[in-house]
Amino acid sequence: KSNLSNITVLFGGTGDLAKRKIFPALYHLQKGGDLPQGFALVAVGRRQKNHQQYREYIYSFMEKEADFTIDKEAWEALSQRIYYLPFHFDDPAGYERLKEFLAVLENIYQTQGNRIYYLAVAPEYFGLIVQQLKVHDMDRKENSWRRVVIEKPFGKDLNSARKLNQIITEVFEEKNIYRIDHYLGKEMLQNIMVIRFTNAFFEPIWNSQYIDNIQISSSEQLGVGTRGEYYDQSGALRDMIQNHMMQLLTLTAMEPPIRLDNQSIRDEKIRVLRSLEELSQKTVFENIVRGQYSAGRIDGKPVKGYREEEGVNPASTTETFVAMKMAVENYRWVGVPFYIRTGKRMPVKSTEIVVEFKRPPEVLYFKEYKNLQPNLLVIGIQPKEGAFLRFNAKKPGTIKEIIPVEMDYCQNCQVEQNSPEAYERLIYDVMRGESTLFTRWDEVEYSWKIVDNIERAWRRKAEEILLYPAGERGPQGAMELLQRDNRKWWNIL
Ligand code: BG6
Repeated sequence: KSNLSNITVLFGGTGDLAKRKIFPALYHLQKGGDLPQGFALVAVGRRQKNHQQYREYIYSFMEKEADFTIDKEAWEALSQRIYYLPFHFDDPAGYERLKEFLAVLENIYQTQGNRIYYLAVAPEYFGLIVQQLKVHDMDRKENSWRRVVIEKPFGKDLNSARKLNQIITEVFEEKNIYRIDHYLGKEMLQNIMVIRFTNAFFEPIWNSQYIDNIQISSSEQLGVGTRGEYYDQSGALRDMIQNHMMQLLTLTAMEPPIRLDNQSIRDEKIRVLRSLEELSQKTVFENIVRGQYSAGRIDGKPVKGYREEEGVNPASTTETFVAMKMAVENYRWVGVPFYIRTGKRMPVKSTEIVVEFKRPPEVLYFKEYKNLQPNLLVIGIQPKEGAFLRFNAKKPGTIKEIIPVEMDYCQNCQVEQNSPEAYERLIYDVMRGESTLFTRWDEVEYSWKIVDNIERAWRRKAEEILLYPAGERGPQGAMELLQRDNRKWWNIL
């Protein structure tokens, strides 16, 4: 595993992401024996702390917040390799100190000059940090690898994403840039291609001849929490659709890649984005519903409305819910609507893909039983990970009753089958130089184009935003979007 050796420099070391996602992931990698011998991490943050205080700070946070019990031995082994360096990201002297410190650690840990610069910071610092790395001659070194990990959001529209990309690519080559979309690290996203392309009985019917419609839904019970300020400038379209939902859509709709390498796979995903119907001003309003949560109840407990949340403009019209109908205009999918929805303050937390099949010919049972259910294939992304098929069968013991039954594969239903967290896989992939589960620039670019187009239409003709009480599945308009087509949303998980 020698080529995995590296020093990871984590900018944003005291931030939420570091504490909630990155350190738990590193801890699990350590515990599972997946961290290379030659590894150390230098966290950079603005707060003053020494190495030991920083280690304790991370430990006490995880002890309180993590949903696993920390194994002391594994933590110790990791914690010894964690260091902390306080400086402001715009302070050139800080980078000089970092450079000297890295030289010392590289000697101790024998990491051959390999480095990961992990930017878990607010997006306005992405460009600044990358430029400073170049100014201080830390961006490349002969016979070593230097990779940069960029957290989301990658820009706030196409224009800002392009500018940001330009700054980053002036310093790092595309192959060394790892843009995070943590949904790609989820076990079941990696499983979509496997399910589709290793089974004889899915791919032959994976097209407009057999599929009536596809529904991709991601619901959260959480509201905006402490991120009101960011979220109010963003909204669900940018926060969830531009990245995560587009990834789910492309993996579901893509053609088989010619090979399993990262270029071939990402090429096919791009082709889906390029095939998406371009929405006009009129179709944006017909096919996309925006909603915002008002006060309501989650699990029986009262919660605030969006406009009462901290950091949110009390007259905000930012959407916390989007439901949309999209068409993938290519040979395979012509005529099959893709319904996509995502929202905060929904009654449950779940992400699922529901493939609804067409009804068989209207003869025999279908002539007699008017309300037989369609066949469904459901791919559960979270919390339940797995896939199941719903089909019709005779209800045992009855003469004429037909009921839907299920064949169910759940990969995380047993306690001992604990899937790795998305970040574990992603961090490990950066170390081994595997970029398939990261977004390539053109994926980001195309999805921003789609989102910008929608935003523009919304801006041109501002409409009253539809409110939905927290704890409901979005505004009535979202139901109507499907009722109009004689269909309904499936809420399975
Ligand atoms: C993030 C969004 O990218 O994804 C958040 O910024 C959202 O607003 C989160 O809550 C959802 O991720 P997950 O893994 O909980 O489905």
